[in-house]
Amino acid sequence: MNPTQTDVAIIGAGPAGLVLARMLQLQGIDAVVLERRSRDYVLGRVRAGIIEQPVAELLVELGLGERMLADRLVHDGVQMQHEAGGRMVRHRVDFAALTGKSVTVYGQRELVRDLIGLREADGLPLRFGAEVIGVDGLDDDRVRLVCRDEAGESTLTARYVAGVDGAHGITAQLLDAAGRRTLQRSYPASWLGVLVAAAPPSHELIYSRHPEGFALASMRAPEVSRLYLQVPAGDTLADWSEDRIWEQLHRRLDLPDSPVNEGRFLESSITPLRSVVHRRMHYGRLLLGGDAAHVVPPSGAKGLNLAVADMAQLSHRLGRALLKGDEAALAGYEQACLRRVWQVTHFSWWMTDLLHRLDADDFGQELRAEQLRTLSDGGSLARWFADSYTGLPVTPWLA
Ligand code: FAD
Ligand code: PHB
Repeated sequence: MNPTQTDVAIIGAGPAGLVLARMLQLQGIDAVVLERRSRDYVLGRVRAGIIEQPVAELLVELGLGERMLADRLVHDGVQMQHEAGGRMVRHRVDFAALTGKSVTVYGQRELVRDLIGLREADGLPLRFGAEVIGVDGLDDDRVRLVCRDEAGESTLTARYVAGVDGAHGITAQLLDAAGRRTLQRSYPASWLGVLVAAAPPSHELIYSRHPEGFALASMRAPEVSRLYLQVPAGDTLADWSEDRIWEQLHRRLDLPDSPVNEGRFLESSITPLRSVVHRRMHYGRLLLGGDAAHVVPPSGAKGLNLAVADMAQLSHRLGRALLKGDEAALAGYEQACLRRVWQVTHFSWWMTDLLHRLDADDFGQELRAEQLRTLSDGGSLARWFADSYTGLPVTPWLA
């Protein structure tokens, strides 16, 4: 039986919605998660790979450590590659030495699988193939959601709604454009990503700024590479044959002692680069978070991490409101989130600008080349980079 009322209706079973559901469960708060896609589709989506240290620690607190701690790769540094003196050079930013922190390489797909597994094992409401098509009563005592699935339309009433339905969801649309107070920037490039059955070229990630465009060598496991190429905005997968992808990956990433290893493509996708911030994250009984509230270009590996940080704020404040009658706690949600949102938006913009070829401006190229040299010195820029990449502290999620 599907419940017809709950405390918190969560729209979207991405990392944000599933993490929030878990946090609420651990506080004894009822929630229903509604997801428009099928279970198989959600379990199949590849996307993020890098989890910040404070976020990984939080996930362990939530009971998600078992598989993650066993299967993850821990990275104490990252390789930055760029042209210097007419050849490509590579240097390492040592996170451990600069900050004492590291990052976790663990696929979003695996994290989502773990979260769904826990919720289903506990028998808690999580409906796949259930699309929310209407929300009303945001200014009343109860919100009414209209949901459509195979069986037809049904309604769910809730005290609060978490709008965590991603960049193409319905909830941000509930406010008109002026109400959302949106600021955005698009970049004239996309990322073509391939998951490949082959060992990565290095034991750490390689971010490469190349005269023909950015490339990244990441991984999911010792024998699985995740490789990305900057491609012109508007390109589709049809524009990129396998041969052309390999040719550009070799050209932009290979050094004589660590070439990219070729292998079977397991998945491929194209993601446009853009930054979006809806500065309104709270409206009546609706609270937005994750990609529904802000999108960052993947260059800084931040979207999932930011979504989890939002959810810590939201869980804490929903707990205050529902368990302690402190509704005012929710009034502070937006303000509390936006500081980190802008810090992460800046970091992601900076990484995108530093590493991509976005224009033919020689002045700008020299500035970026100098930043990369400064980064290799291990001084204050490297410390800021390492601190931002490995992650800012996350606020307590309990009420
Ligand atoms: P989503 O994951 O988009 O989930 C939203 C869910 O809501 C979806 O399942 C959707 O189907 C559902 N939904 C939408 N509308 C409705 C509706 N009307 N009714 C019901 N359900 C609905 N981030 C990192 O931190 N580190 C990385 O290394 C990283 N790498 C990335 C690489 C790539 C190529 C890409 C594309 C992204 C990357 N990200 C990374 C970003 C990360 O994947 C996203 O930020 C993250 O998925 C956001 O989670 P979310 O739960 O907010 O949204
Ligand atoms: C990934 O492994 O998918 C990944 C790694 C680093 C990024 C973005 C994506 O900046």
